[in-house]
Amino acid sequence: MVKEKVYQSLIPQIKALIQDETDFIANLGNICAAIHFAFNFHWTGFYIVKNDELVLGPFQGPVACTRIGLGKGVCGKVWKQKKALIVEDVNQFDGHIACSPYSKSEIVIPLINNDEVWGVLDIDSSHFKNFDSTDLHNLTIICELLKKP
Ligand code: SME
Repeated sequence: MVKEKVYQSLIPQIKALIQDETDFIANLGNICAAIHFAFNFHWTGFYIVKNDELVLGPFQGPVACTRIGLGKGVCGKVWKQKKALIVEDVNQFDGHIACSPYSKSEIVIPLINNDEVWGVLDIDSSHFKNFDSTDLHNLTIICELLKKP
């Protein structure tokens, strides 16, 4: 199935998963699981801003680094610039934080409320150039469903 079709069924599924549940961690957990298994990504998860760091939140995939500073790695850069990033080849990204040797490309979307980044959605693929504007568009829609905890 082409990815746009997958997103077309994934987004209503995610809306249904979170609409009657107020617990924030439960919703983040289900959202990353739904995304992860829809596409069989290598790693899918959330980092949440706590004080001056991004701290690992709910995720699916291998163990990952727990804390990322502002401006560090892909996630920290997205936090700092308040703008999503697509990295086609993680080896070419200056300062990329390698949590797994199998990660080849990555997309990071900021979670923003009232112009403030309160977390990021980070997805790693084991294939180069896995992410494009279709992912950016649809993952941004998913992230906009989330409110700051
Ligand atoms: N690669 C990320 C770190 C998080 S892991 O990919 C799960 C980065 O450079 O910020």
